[in-house]
This record gives sequence, C-alpha cells and structure tokens, in this order.
Amino acid sequence: MRTKINFDNNWRFCIGDFEPKTTASEWGGAKVRGYLKGVVAPEFDDSDWRVVDLPHDYVSEGKYCFKNDVSDMGDIPEMESISSRLMAAGCLEGKIAWYRKHFTVNEDLENRRIYIHFDGIYRNSTVYINRYLVGSHTSGYGGFYYDITDFVSCGDNVIAIRVDSREHEGWWYEGGGIYRHTWLEAADNIHTEPFGLYAAPCDIDTEAMTALIKIRCTAVCKYTDDRDAHIRITVKDPNGNMIAVKERDIRINAWSSADICEELSAENIRLWDLNNAELYTAEVCINDSDTYQTTFGIRDIRFDADKGLFLNGKHIKVNGVCCHYDHAGVGVGIPDTVNRYRLERIKDLGANALRLSHYPPSAELLDMCDRMGILVFSETRRMSSAPEDIDSLRFMIKNGRNHPSVFLWGIGNEEIFSQHRPETARTTKTLKSEIRRLDILRPVTSAVVCWDGEQRFDNARGYIDVTKNLDVMGFNYCHTAWDDYHSLMPDQPVIVTEESSNSGTRGCTQTDESKGLYCIYDKDNEAKCKSGKKAVKADMGETAVSMVMERDYIAGMFVWTGFDYRGEPTPFGYPAVYSQFGIMDYCGFEKDNFYYYRSRWTDDTILHIFRCGTDVYCYTSCNEAELFADGKSLGRKSMNGRQYLVWENCADNDLKAIGYKNGNAVITDIKRPSGKPQRILAESYYASAKKGDAVIVNISILDENGVLVENADNTLTFDIEGGILLGTGNGAPADHDSEKAMTRRAFNGRCQLIVKAAGKKLRILVSSAGLDSAVCEPEIK
Ligand code: GAL
Repeated sequence: MRTKINFDNNWRFCIGDFEPKTTASEWGGAKVRGYLKGVVAPEFDDSDWRVVDLPHDYVSEGKYCFKNDVSDMGDIPEMESISSRLMAAGCLEGKIAWYRKHFTVNEDLENRRIYIHFDGIYRNSTVYINRYLVGSHTSGYGGFYYDITDFVSCGDNVIAIRVDSREHEGWWYEGGGIYRHTWLEAADNIHTEPFGLYAAPCDIDTEAMTALIKIRCTAVCKYTDDRDAHIRITVKDPNGNMIAVKERDIRINAWSSADICEELSAENIRLWDLNNAELYTAEVCINDSDTYQTTFGIRDIRFDADKGLFLNGKHIKVNGVCCHYDHAGVGVGIPDTVNRYRLERIKDLGANALRLSHYPPSAELLDMCDRMGILVFSETRRMSSAPEDIDSLRFMIKNGRNHPSVFLWGIGNEEIFSQHRPETARTTKTLKSEIRRLDILRPVTSAVVCWDGEQRFDNARGYIDVTKNLDVMGFNYCHTAWDDYHSLMPDQPVIVTEESSNSGTRGCTQTDESKGLYCIYDKDNEAKCKSGKKAVKADMGETAVSMVMERDYIAGMFVWTGFDYRGEPTPFGYPAVYSQFGIMDYCGFEKDNFYYYRSRWTDDTILHIFRCGTDVYCYTSCNEAELFADGKSLGRKSMNGRQYLVWENCADNDLKAIGYKNGNAVITDIKRPSGKPQRILAESYYASAKKGDAVIVNISILDENGVLVENADNTLTFDIEGGILLGTGNGAPADHDSEKAMTRRAFNGRCQLIVKAAGKKLRILVSSAGLDSAVCEPEIK
C-alpha cells in the first residue's frame, strides 16, 4: 500500500541560528555527519519555540526597514525606482530560522521506502533527521524530495530544518520559510518513482473523438537482488469508468529502475477545455500493492505561426495575467483557499491564463487550474544548464506534465546580459532537449526583452540566433519589434509573455508620492513623481491588448500583473513597499482597470465610471455612453475605437452613466459621492469552510446609504472565536503596519482578514470606534 500524508501541522519554529554540534569532530559521528548535540539532536529542548502550521512565511512577520546603502540595482535602468535589493524585496529582510517536528514512522523499513516532499522552501534549506544531515537545497523555487529511509527509525523521529532567506534570487518580495506544503510518503521497495507516471494523450481526433494515450511509468526496485514485478496500468474516464487495462510482468534489476511504456487507444473521449474540467485518471499498480495515480486531461493544443493558438481545434486568444506568489497577510505562505480565491478572481476578470512569474507553480495550484479551466505558462527560475538548475527544470516538468492546464514551458525571463550570446543558443537547445525527454507534448518559450542591458532594439536582429531555437517566441514588452520579428521568422509562433506594467493604486484619484499613491490618469504624474522619468505610462496595457487582438499571428498576452505584490514599488521608492502593477490590489480587490480588461476579454456588457482628479473616466464594452451629473446629461460619447471615454470637470456630482449598444440603452452605472463612514460590512468570501481551512473575510466601510466610503481609513479591531489569525491586508502601497496584529486600518474603504478555522464554529467580530460593527460567521463543516 502506498500512502502520502500531509506533513504541514505542528512544527516548532524559531528565528535565529543554532549550531548543529558534535562532540566527535574527527571520528565517528562527524564522518557520517551525525550531530550528537545541538539543534538537530532529538533531545534538543524546543519547548519554548513557537508552534506553526505550514504554509508559513516568517519574513512577512518582520518590520519594514529602509537602507539606502546597497545599490546593486542601480545599473539596471528598468529598476530605477528601486535603489537596492532590499527595496525590491519590499524592505523586509530575510533571516535564518529553524523548524523542528517530531513524527512517528510505523513501517517495515526493510521492505518500505519513506520519502519527504517539500513543495517549496525559501531558501537555502538544510534538512536533518534524527541528527543526520539528509540534504541541502539552495533555490527557494520549485519542489524537491528526499528518500529518508536510511535516516528514520520505527517510532519517534525528529526532523530539523535550517532555512536561510537572507540572499535574493529575484527582484521582488520572496519571503522566507517552508512556504508550500510538505508530505510524507511511504512506498513498497518496488514502487513507482515519485512523479514517475506520465500520461500523454496524442493523436487527438476531435471529430472522431479518439486519442492514443501514451503512458510511461518508472518502476524502482530498492531490493539488493533482482526482482519480478507485475505491473497493471489502468485508465479511468472522468466518470470513473475503466476504459483500458494493460498488464505485464517485468524483471527489475537490483537497486535500479525500469521504464514501462504502454499505448492505450481511447474512444468517445471527453475533451478537457476551459469550461469542462474533464479529468481522466491513470493508475499504476505494482504487485497488487504499490498504487500510484495521476489525473490528466485529453486536449489538443496547437500553436500556429499565422493564426495563433487552437484548443481542441477552436481558436482562442490567450488573455493572461502574470502573478507573483504573494498575498496580503500571508506573504508567500499562501493557504489553498487563498490560492483558490486568487484564481477565482482571475476568472472573474475574464482572464483565461496564468503565468506564475518567474518560477514554477505547485502541483496543488495546477490541480486547481485544471479544475477551473485556466491555462498555465509554467516557467523555471533560472535559464541555466548548471546541474542544480537542470534538476529544478526537470522537477518542474515532472510536476506539471500531467496537468492539462499547462500549455507552455518557459526557460527564461529577460536574460538581458546573455540572451543575445552564442552560449545562450546552446543553453536553449540543452534545456529544450531536457524538456522534450520528459514531456513530448508542450512547446518551449522564453520571455525575451529587446534590450542587451545597454541598447534597446526596435527590431529583433540582435538576438534572433538565440530565439530561433525556441518553439514559440516570447516577447516581454517591445511591441515595436513584434511585426519585424514575425516577418523575419514567419514560421515561428509568437506569444507576448509580459506587457503593460502600469495600473496604479486601488481607488486612488490623485498621485501623491509621499503616500505611495499613484493614479495612472493623473495629468501631473511627471511633475508629481520625484523624477519625471519615473512616471509609469498610461495606456501601455491598452495599447498591447489592441495590438494583440489585431494580430492573428500573436497567440495572446500576459499582463504584468494580475495582483499587486510586495516589493518593486515602481514608480516610487520608499515609503511605498508594494507594487502597483496589479489589475487587482494585494488583497484581490479590483481596481478600476479591472473593468477595462473585462470589457476586452469577455462578452459581458461592461460599463464602469470612475473619478480621476476632476474628470470622469469610463470603461465600457458598449459603442456609446452618456454621463449624467445630478440628473443632467453631460453628453453622449462614442467609443469609435477608443479605449475609454472621458468627461472633464464633473467629478463631484452624483454620477450616472448609461451604456448603449446599437442605439439601445443596455446598462447603467451609478457613482454617488459617499457620505461619512457609518457601518462595517464583513463578508466571508466562501460561505462555508472545513476545519483547518483559511477563511477570507472581505471588509468594506459603508456610509448610511450603504455606499462604499472611498477614502475611509478607520482602524478595525478583530475578535476571533474558533480561529487563528493568519494575517490582514488593505492594499495600501505604503502601509507599514503589521499584518499579524488584531487591528488594521482600512485603506480606501476596504480591508481583508484571513483566519484559519480551528474549531467547529468560527465567529469574527469586526469593530471600530464610531462605526456599527459586523459579525461574520461562516459555516464550518
Ligand atoms: C519586467 C520583469 C518583471 C517586472 C516588470 C516590472 O521587466 O520581467 O519581473 O520586474 O518588469 O515592470
């Protein structure tokens, strides 16, 4: 029997460093690197350490600090608002910390193997079990696992993990800690290797509804003599009906592995697509005992160099968002419910694709994307064929290759100092070949920017010798080069891997650098930002959306970004510590341009008016809109190819807009100036939760008429019964208050609370001096 149990709960945690100590430095213990005393020894007293559950990000618990000393970002023009790595990381410093946990093993260790899986530790982790050093993993991105059979005993065991998050791997907030799930897996001595089952649906005929499913299974023998093994591979359709069984006997050599390849014909196939999460199951059972399963989807995805992307024969445009893995209150330690919430918000936006930039998603996130119908562009952290980087790439492929949502692999992002060099052409071929060995289905791209660190190109000639080796050309920005590149490389499909980088602060109608507030349509942005150069341009997203829509050869685009994230506060520096690129803020609350993307990416009828300074702006999918101020028409305007409409000098009034399609009024939007804050509205995003789940409570401050008070910043206090505070957020780019306190100021009328349901009942009281309080009681199942 194969078991895989969640290993997230009841870790002891402490910030600071401890030495694993041995009393025998030359002899005995030191040779096997078993430490007799100190933090890795089972008897070490950790009773005064804090108890934490995973996912956990301890850097998000720290205090913001500004140091203007290190200037290692200074040479990179794009990063001009970010004076140092610390600024890029949101002014929160990484630290060394330790985790420890007691666990029980009840297995026959002569005939069973035990694995520990980490979906992500940021970073530089060293794992010890029962005083033995098990392994070290440098990168904070992607997962890894260890075979710990030789380190554990039957009965009580202790794992100790040192994490060092002081170094950076990127130019954004990266967090620190065991920030994704952990698992303990037990398998027979003859078993399917972890991630060793691959189901590749090929030759998909979407008319005859048939497919050939190629299955590859890597069976491992951990006996010291050769063994016979009976292999049974089964495939079940989305209803759980068996559609194919293949059995065979093989001999596996001592202490080695064997690949078993089978081909199964499937008829009456049920296609996975963005609206139908049809998931098949492949299962390998070895010797009627070790059972390993994966879900997979049958779908045909094809890039065409002239016409873009086709899913099951139907043309689709990729309308995607890039996102960092970071959320208000929890940092990179994102609970599953919060991940689901973020993906639902992406769907609400009308996006159909996600690029988790610039590192791979976990299996759990991919499962959600499979089930919700979101395409995923999965990208490795480092474009390098150094052994550790190749290992990370392999892990990404094995972890993602059975997920129908994954449609594209990424091997690089803006490798400006090397992307035009011959060695990078060779690296591209190496990485692509490594991918092809593990996944026969998906194409490979890289997110290229037309810039070599000094010079920008309007054309593509500077790096084409490298990028011609990609299956799909990926452009970050540089729209002036797209057509030129396509004319030079007419047979290579193109996708825009990153665009826009504008947006601004949620609900903000004027730029104020001292508070980190940015309004994209503020006419004085150039003057209001310390350096004129720093003002983020309006319309970048809109220009890209239109250009992509007008060009059949471009498969689609990813907007930078879906959500705000910590760090990279362009166009500002300190005190702003959060980015403002998001179409939604750090809590997932929509900004005004949410409606712009919805109006372009969906067939919904959209009309959204908002104020900026003294003007009123309107995003709409209608042909015309009319604005009324205090009941008086300010004129009917026609879109005529425009991205938005503007009425000047009318912002203070009671506003109403009517949208017209083909002359008929089809939609109304009303915007009234809000009155004084009077009451709190606290809503659980999901009506019910399971014990242990994170519960997201979205809070609004309303006036006497129930209208959101747009500039309300009241301090809210939380009383939680039956739950544990995970964190709070409000989306304010320069708010330095703790995310882990029982109070938080609202920002522009909104706030968010994330709580872990700990008991059978959960009751959250949200109050604030002078306001009617609110109670939120989601059902706990
Ligand atoms: C891109 C980069 C992103 C982010 C963005 C901000 O060049 O790939 O990670 O830094 O710029 O505009």
